[in-house]
Amino acid sequence: MCGIVGYIGDQQAYPVLIKGLHRLEYRGYDSAGIALINEKGDLSCYKAKGKVSALEAAVSDKDVTGTIGIAHTRWATHGEPNEINAHPHFSQSRNLALVHNGIIENYKSLRSMLSSHGRTFCSETDTEVLVQLVEYMQESHDCNLFTATQLALKNVVGAYAIAILDKNNPDTLVCARKGSPLIIGVGKNEDGKNPEFYLGSDATPIIEYTDQVIYLQEEEIALMNRAGDLTITNLANVKQTPQLSTLQLSLDQLEKGGYPHFMLKEIWEQPDALRTCIRGRLNVSNKDVILSGIIDHKEKFINARRIIICACGTSWHSALIGKYFIEEAAQIPVEVEYASEFRYRNPVIYPDDVVIAVSQSGETADTLAAIQLAKQKGAFLYGICNVIGSSIARATDSGTYLHVGPEIGVASTKAFTGQVITLALLGLAIAKEKHSLSDEMFHMLIDELEMIPDKMQWTLEHNKDIASFAQMFTYAKNFIYLGRGYNYPVALEGALKLKEISYIHAEGYPAAEMKHGPIALIDEEMPVVVIAPKKGMYDKIVSNIQEIKSRKGKIISVVTEGDTVVRDMSDYCFVIPDTRDCYVPMLAVIPLQLLSYYVAVAKGRNVDQPRNLAKSVTVE
Ligand code: F6R
Repeated sequence: MCGIVGYIGDQQAYPVLIKGLHRLEYRGYDSAGIALINEKGDLSCYKAKGKVSALEAAVSDKDVTGTIGIAHTRWATHGEPNEINAHPHFSQSRNLALVHNGIIENYKSLRSMLSSHGRTFCSETDTEVLVQLVEYMQESHDCNLFTATQLALKNVVGAYAIAILDKNNPDTLVCARKGSPLIIGVGKNEDGKNPEFYLGSDATPIIEYTDQVIYLQEEEIALMNRAGDLTITNLANVKQTPQLSTLQLSLDQLEKGGYPHFMLKEIWEQPDALRTCIRGRLNVSNKDVILSGIIDHKEKFINARRIIICACGTSWHSALIGKYFIEEAAQIPVEVEYASEFRYRNPVIYPDDVVIAVSQSGETADTLAAIQLAKQKGAFLYGICNVIGSSIARATDSGTYLHVGPEIGVASTKAFTGQVITLALLGLAIAKEKHSLSDEMFHMLIDELEMIPDKMQWTLEHNKDIASFAQMFTYAKNFIYLGRGYNYPVALEGALKLKEISYIHAEGYPAAEMKHGPIALIDEEMPVVVIAPKKGMYDKIVSNIQEIKSRKGKIISVVTEGDTVVRDMSDYCFVIPDTRDCYVPMLAVIPLQLLSYYVAVAKGRNVDQPRNLAKSVTVE
């Protein structure tokens, strides 16, 4: 949600910043802006509505020189997406320029206080209030930028990651964070002497230059200067020791690698991504599952009265599959909660509850707040995240990374299957400790899980030619997705994928719920996607399909290879190889991902950057 990039060093800042903005664009793309201080000491600022490419076009004939700068790509929260509301924002004197990710909750009261002191505002944003507040502190306390930022932030309620330029201090860059992530990259200037510094809302704009980073902690403020000094304090001005980490990310993971869209690349990456996820964790020869995250906390899981999984969106769907699996394998009751609902209730949490956060980004504000609440109530926290070093990963007591590589496409694909397989590993690891499965069943589940990446590859190869088929459904205004048991969450996920990238309305239902109302929607115009593998509830789902057929609905089914009954009843069929019931979701979701992708492409949608969405939802 909004991307921040910054630079101070010997290089020209503009190319670093613009490339960084392109890499961060998946976080927001309503508008973009850049501020630089050139050699003469002028502070220039350029903004454009829309994509980063619009900003590039807007500055093509402008002076973009300077070796210090900040930049921003926006996902609008306060004020419509236009040039005025785009960041950076200026202080009254135009000496300070600031970019911000997050929400200042008390911005209205701060704005009236500042107005009463003669400050006037150009935009509707909470960010402009922040930069005015910093300057107000600078002037009223006669202090430097760093101290003024500390003082200002003490008065702020809300979440922020910020970076500030000061025209009068062209050799320093100040940044701070609370609630929204911010990373400082420490590189080497060409002379090899003083370090240069990069800033990023995540590591993607930094990795090209350095793998040495510092994750700024909650309520920390950092000052970087051209001499290569880095000072970090908290809001109370207590000095903090910067912890240098090495990034586990490579540049080619951030490129499209010949695919037209990141989403398609990430769909095809799934077999390899899942192989990496289970590597070293699933041992077929010894018939074992080793999750280092639970080794030191076995007792917590063995004695857990209950597991509560908090998540949002796609991660909530994978959590639901995880619930079915963990309950079946480990015999522990599992509740799955929308993090945004959980955090605002007064949920009953027992000290022997384990609360799991599932989050690709590890930064989703609601999920983070949900686990903070659970922590206050004494629960043990476990994180299942993809982004290494993310806020949720750091806020939990233990956890497991997905290791599926960076996910850039806004619509989640490989993170979903990565979460499902990680939850399956977790269920098996707990079952091992609790001896809740027979040896025979445990071994069978291990053997079969190891084959899932190959079976995914098979599924991709056998369903790749659906572009022309997808074309036939661009007319549709609505879709229904149906599944039962483990495939009900897959139906929800298939519907979400179609909605977010093609803007076609879609609903997922448990198939048997149709007759309780939604069947009234069925007519010859309605495509109904049914996940109907030849497994446990096959006969029941065949009856559900018959009910839809007799109302002339168009059936698109996902069936097991060799199936003829559902195939003959369907207008179109996707095939998947046979596997155990509990693992079907990882295969069945693949044709649904491809379907939504190709329908969206046929409708001319911007697949990787769908309207109104952003990859990482760091605001409520
Ligand atoms: C949908 C999608 C979102 C995210 C949700 C949670 O394709 O990506 O629904 O799943 O915003 O994000 P994370 O997993 O980062 O917490």
